[in-house]
Amino acid sequence: MLKKPTVAVTRKLPTHVEIKMSELYNVKLNKDDKPLIKSELIDLANTVDILVCGVTDVIDSDVIASAGKKLKLVANFGVGVNHIDLEAADRKNILVSNTPDVLTEDTADLALTLILMTARRASEGERIVRKNAWTGWTPTQLMGTRVFGKTLGIIGMGRIGQALAKRAKGFEMKIHYHNRRPCNKKIEDKTGAIYFENLEKMLPTVDFLSINTPFTNETDNIINSSRLDLLKSNCILVNTARGGIVDEDALIHSLKTKTIAGAGLDVYDGEPGVNPGFFQLENVVLLPHLGSATLETREAMGFRVIANIEKFLENNSVVDTVI
Ligand code: DGY
Repeated sequence: MLKKPTVAVTRKLPTHVEIKMSELYNVKLNKDDKPLIKSELIDLANTVDILVCGVTDVIDSDVIASAGKKLKLVANFGVGVNHIDLEAADRKNILVSNTPDVLTEDTADLALTLILMTARRASEGERIVRKNAWTGWTPTQLMGTRVFGKTLGIIGMGRIGQALAKRAKGFEMKIHYHNRRPCNKKIEDKTGAIYFENLEKMLPTVDFLSINTPFTNETDNIINSSRLDLLKSNCILVNTARGGIVDEDALIHSLKTKTIAGAGLDVYDGEPGVNPGFFQLENVVLLPHLGSATLETREAMGFRVIANIEKFLENNSVVDTVI
């Protein structure tokens, strides 16, 4: 067992988490919080026992291949692991852990925030007020669309999808969902959610569509132009999962031609780059990947990383096994 392992943390974490890590391990922190470039990740992978990374670090096969014999655990600060080459890690017997559960509620809150902001044209309104261009209340200014009582489609009824369904129930929304399998009967009973095995059948039925599925080969561009064409013209799409799940050029086309009403996005293909086509559009709300960004959740994610490391040091396994 490693007594005091060397742990590299690629980004600045909440202070309490960094303090705890510094007490427990020989830590290499990133005080400036500058995203690391590939050669820096390669250097770290080659010299440390445990690498704590996040969504901005591409841990590809080159980084994994360069890992020295010491590197035994990649402990991801976050739930999505599409930035890590899991097969390469597996081949080198490097464990990968993530931080599920702790970010569920806040990410569901943000999906609901996007639904409300987009439906009620909150960003457009804020832009007018900030420009000091508001000329006063009028009966027809910025009329949005009602959320209460409408139909919400959820792609991906995992933890976050379910948490969103519970919130939507409070708005008396009807829930339709698409998932590889139907979810637990209890969740269906609690939220009234109706399962659609066939995504194409669900899409024309919803007023709001929320994407809550992980990014995998199967979900890569799952929302493409032909599926966007199945949505109603009043439909609003929100994405708090990963940008690559949606074909962004196709989405921009649908928003421009108003074949759908709006989109609320927290994630983008090629972050932090954002497809400039979105900037021209009023009917899209753009947030900078804030899903889990509350102090409570970011601390909980950090302590979940520590729990994974502690279990690894104890018995070479982790609490949250990815591979
Ligand atoms: C996640 O946990 O995957 C979030 O997108 C942020 O890291």
